Amino acid sequence: MGTGIFITLEGIEGSGKTTQIELLKELLTANGFEVLLTREPGGSPIGEKIRHILLDTANAAMEPLTELFLYEASRTQHVEEVIGPALKAGKAVLCDRFYDASTAYQGYARGIGAATVADLNLVATGGQKPDLTIVLDLPVNDGLKRLGRNLDRIEGEKATFHEKVRQGYLEIAKAEPDRVKVIDASGPPDVIFAKVKTIVENLLPLKKAR
Ligand code: TMP
Repeated sequence: MGTGIFITLEGIEGSGKTTQIELLKELLTANGFEVLLTREPGGSPIGEKIRHILLDTANAAMEPLTELFLYEASRTQHVEEVIGPALKAGKAVLCDRFYDASTAYQGYARGIGAATVADLNLVATGGQKPDLTIVLDLPVNDGLKRLGRNLDRIEGEKATFHEKVRQGYLEIAKAEPDRVKVIDASGPPDVIFAKVKTIVENLLPLKKAR
């Protein structure tokens, strides 16, 4: 599906994805790629509206399944409208979270179950998978300390919820070790990026050779 390269970044709240994805954009641009930086939920005009509903603290009554369907709805729009066309055009797509976030947050932490989420992920994406997923891993309390004051609906969940998210990501990586790489993200950004760079540079020749 497409000739571009598709990389996703994942991790608990405060794991430093935003910094790393910006650095990765520079690296790929320097390697001659046209880079599309995008995010979930969101990444399309409709998806950004769905994001607002999902993160609004006024929506405390939201059912776990409602939440999952909204993330998946945002994802379908994103794949169809943005990610798929960019990959077909040969771009490098860098996405701040993708379907593994639904597995970790809704599947593991909300308790819907990884198998149900996997089915819906497949429906929502039409089978579009990342070439590489990097999980930035660090202790939950270290991540939560990095958050600002106004927490959104998901950030404001209890530490035990975020602990389940972290364990969920580690399970995903165990199940798909070729695609999903875990990096210790508790150090300074440049040290973390050196690890990201090594992993991505291993993948690039494979993609360029296609
Ligand atoms: P962000 O803060 O990294 O932009 O992500 C928005 C929030 O949405 C974050 O708390 C993680 C959560 N999330 C899910 O619960 N399920 C998903 O499928 C995605 C993409 C994000």
